[in-house]
Amino acid sequence: MENFEFVSPTHFVFGRGAEEQVGAKLAERGAAKVLLHFGGQSAVKSGLVDRVKASLDAQGVQHVELGGVRPNPEITLVREGVALCKQHGIDWVLAVGGGSVIDSAKAIAVGAHYDGDVWDFFETKRQTDDVLPIAVVLTIPAAGSEASKNTVVSNDALQMKSGYPNNAQRPKLAFMNPELTFTLPPYQTAAGLTDMFCHLLERFFDDVGAVPVTDNLCLSLMRTVRAEAPRVLAEPDNYDARANVMWAGMLCHQGLAGVGRHEDWATHGLEHELSALYPEITHGAGLAVMFPAWMEHVRGENPGRFAFYGREVFGLAPTGDADADALSAIDETRAFFASLGMPTTLAELGVGEDDIEKMIPTLKANKGEPFGSFKKLSMDDAREIYRLAL
Ligand code: NZQ
Ligand code: ZN
Repeated sequence: MENFEFVSPTHFVFGRGAEEQVGAKLAERGAAKVLLHFGGQSAVKSGLVDRVKASLDAQGVQHVELGGVRPNPEITLVREGVALCKQHGIDWVLAVGGGSVIDSAKAIAVGAHYDGDVWDFFETKRQTDDVLPIAVVLTIPAAGSEASKNTVVSNDALQMKSGYPNNAQRPKLAFMNPELTFTLPPYQTAAGLTDMFCHLLERFFDDVGAVPVTDNLCLSLMRTVRAEAPRVLAEPDNYDARANVMWAGMLCHQGLAGVGRHEDWATHGLEHELSALYPEITHGAGLAVMFPAWMEHVRGENPGRFAFYGREVFGLAPTGDADADALSAIDETRAFFASLGMPTTLAELGVGEDDIEKMIPTLKANKGEPFGSFKKLSMDDAREIYRLAL
C-alpha cells in the first residue's frame, strides 16, 4: 500500500426531504448571504429551486441567484459568479444540481477571493485555502462532485476542458434526497451509472499491486452499481434502487476507493477532450466508448488484473489463459455499458478520425506526456486508443 493523505470534510444529509434542511443547516453554520447556483431547467421546473429558496427565507439566509449552468460547465458563467460574490459579499456558495452545477460552484468559490482570473487555477493547479464554503443539493448521481476534491470546467475560447483538484473545495454540506432523481431521463441515469463505475475502474487499474482493503471496497461498489443499474432503469421511481445508486455515486469518487493506490485517470483525460471539442457529449457516454478501448490497448501490462476483475465483478470462470480472460472481462464491460443504452463507438457520438489530431495538443497540455499509471501512455498511444474507439 502506498502512502496517502485523505481528507473528507463533507457533512451528508441523506434521505426523503433532505433539501428542506438547507436553510437550517446553513444558518447553524453562520451563513448570511449565499450564491444560489443552478442549471438550465430541471431544478426550476420541478420546483426544487423554489423549495430551497423557501428554506433559506425561513431562516433569514439571504441569497443571490445565478442559474443557467450548462452540462460541461463553462468558465464565462463562473466568472459571472465570481463577480457576484465580490459585489454582494457572498459567504457560501449553494449548488442545486449535478456535477456541472457543483463544479461551476466550486470554481466560483475558489475565485471569489482572488484578484486575478479564476482560470489561472485550472492552468497552474496552484493550491489555496481561501475558498468559500460550498453546500450542495444533489439532483443526479454521477460525477461524485458532491464530496470530491475536483472541479472540471470548459474554456470554449481555448477549446479546453481542465480539472482543478483542491481539498479546500470539497463541499462542507451535501443534501441527498433520492426522490429528486426520479425525474432523470433514462439516458442521464445511464450516463451517471457509467461515470460512477468508471471512477472505480480508474482507481482499480494502476501500477500498484493488490491493496486488498481498497480493492475489496472497489469491487463491492462495482457489483452494487452493476446490480442496481437494471433495477433503476426499469423502475425510475423505485426509492431503494435510487438511494443505493445515489450513495454509491458518492462513494465511487469521494476518494476512499482509491487510497493506497496511484490511480490511473488516463481515460478521463481522453474523454474530457471529447467533451471539450463537442460540449453536447455527455461525460458518461464518452467514457462508455473510451474505457473499453483503453482496456484493450493496455491489457498486456497486467492481464491477470483484468482476469481478477472479470471473476469478481462479472463472475467469469477462469480458463487458464490470462489474456483470454482479460479479453472476456473487457467484452463484459462493453456489454454492460451497452445494456444501459450507452454508445459503444465514437461514430455514435459524432466523432470521426479527423477529430483525433484536434484533441492531441490539448490532451498533452492537460495530462502531460507520458500520462496514466497502469501503462504510461504517449500521445501515439492516445491516438491508437481513439482509433480503437472509432
Ligand atoms: O441543466 P438541467 O436542466 O438541470 O439538466 C441536467 C443536465 O442536462 C439534467 N438533470 C440533472 N438533474 C436532473 C436532471 N434532469 C432531470 N431531473 C433531474 N433530477 O442532467 C443533465 C446532466 O447534468 P450534469 O450536471 O452535467 O451531470 P453530471 O452530474 O454527470 O456532471 C457532469 C460533469 O461533471 C464532470 C464532467 O466532466 C461533466 O462536466 N465531472 C466532475 C467530476 C468531479 N468534479 O469530481 C468528476 C467526474 O469524473 C466528471 O469529470
Ligand atoms: Zn467521471
